Amino acid sequence: MIAVLDDKHIDAIMASLMDGIITFDGSGHVIMANKAAENLFLVREGGLEGKTMLEIGDNDILAMIEEVLKRGNEVFAETIIRPRTQIYRVHVMPIKNDVNKEIEGAVAVFRDVTDARNFDQMRSEFVGNVSHELRTPLTSIKGFVETLLDGAMENSTICRRFLSIIDAETERLSRLIEDLLSLSSIESKERIINLEPVCLIRSIRSVMNILGPQISEKSLHVEFIYDDQLSLILADEDLLNQVLINLLDNAIKYTPRQGKIIIRSRQRDSRVITTFTDTGMGIPHESLPRVFERFYRVDKARSRHQGGTGLGLAIVKHIVESHGGEVFVESEVGRGATFGVSFLVV
Ligand SMILES: Nc1ncnc2c1ncn2[C@@H]1O[C@H](COP(=O)(O)OP(=O)(O)O)[C@@H](O)[C@H]1O
Ligand SMILES: [Mg+2]
Repeated sequence: MIAVLDDKHIDAIMASLMDGIITFDGSGHVIMANKAAENLFLVREGGLEGKTMLEIGDNDILAMIEEVLKRGNEVFAETIIRPRTQIYRVHVMPIKNDVNKEIEGAVAVFRDVTDARNFDQMRSEFVGNVSHELRTPLTSIKGFVETLLDGAMENSTICRRFLSIIDAETERLSRLIEDLLSLSSIESKERIINLEPVCLIRSIRSVMNILGPQISEKSLHVEFIYDDQLSLILADEDLLNQVLINLLDNAIKYTPRQGKIIIRSRQRDSRVITTFTDTGMGIPHESLPRVFERFYRVDKARSRHQGGTGLGLAIVKHIVESHGGEVFVESEVGRGATFGVSFLVV
């Protein structure tokens, strides 16, 4: 027995498609539209049938249908269908008579490609940012090397000064590349997260030791306050250290000499919340939602001057969220900032 698809089957298939589909007769009137197409043009069931694209109110698609009905070729376009903001890829094909090949109508398929286009745009913005960040230290290195070669190297004081600038810029380049690699390995999930019970108190003490020289150099007062009964947390120790180092490093960098930094760890139900509060310059209200974005800095020149890459907080956010935790920030300009992270207890 040969199975034949009847109208019921075709209706079921059309209704289940995510793409909008509309078929037109030879004069450009809608014969049939599926649910996705009705939703797309914001009409009730059957609301498109018998209408032309002119009546439906989209001149771009009207032009596409007219062209296909007249010339019999396929056309593609990407368009925004008002009042929506999504981007649709529209593909219109002719329907031809089997025998004499005359054009009898057309079928239009609408696919939402918004996510793909946004992704493309994000990717190209990212590549643009990375290139810019790499070029800045390179330009400066090249400038100093050329000046040295042009004769400045004969003067040993100048030579030494330029070489130390070149050294710092090279340092920054390699930090930038390290940060980019660590961000991409966490993001691509290729880095296996090795969750183990970790003593947060010990990790924080060790990070305070690592950054000890920077703390003393600025005569900062750093205090660590924690609940006595703090549970162990579930974390990948290396990644946890990256989080703590980045947050303490920022608190140190963005707090003037003799300022104060308080680290607090307390338990709330199944989470341990750790905050880093400083008495530094703070962050303007409008920048708060953006500080965890890659390359976002409140003051680009200052961050660069301090050797920052603008990636630290993006790395922090990624690591903490991949552990099932959360990040937050509170701040007022001139009154310091508080950055917080939470981790799950064992
Ligand atoms: N504790 C803080 N106080 C004030 N501003 C901060 C603090 N931490 C971060 N910021 C702001 O957030 C930006 C992004 O931080 P981050 O991603 O660590 O990049 P970087 O430190 O390399 O500039 C910083 O450039 C700075 O403007
Ligand atoms: Mg930083």
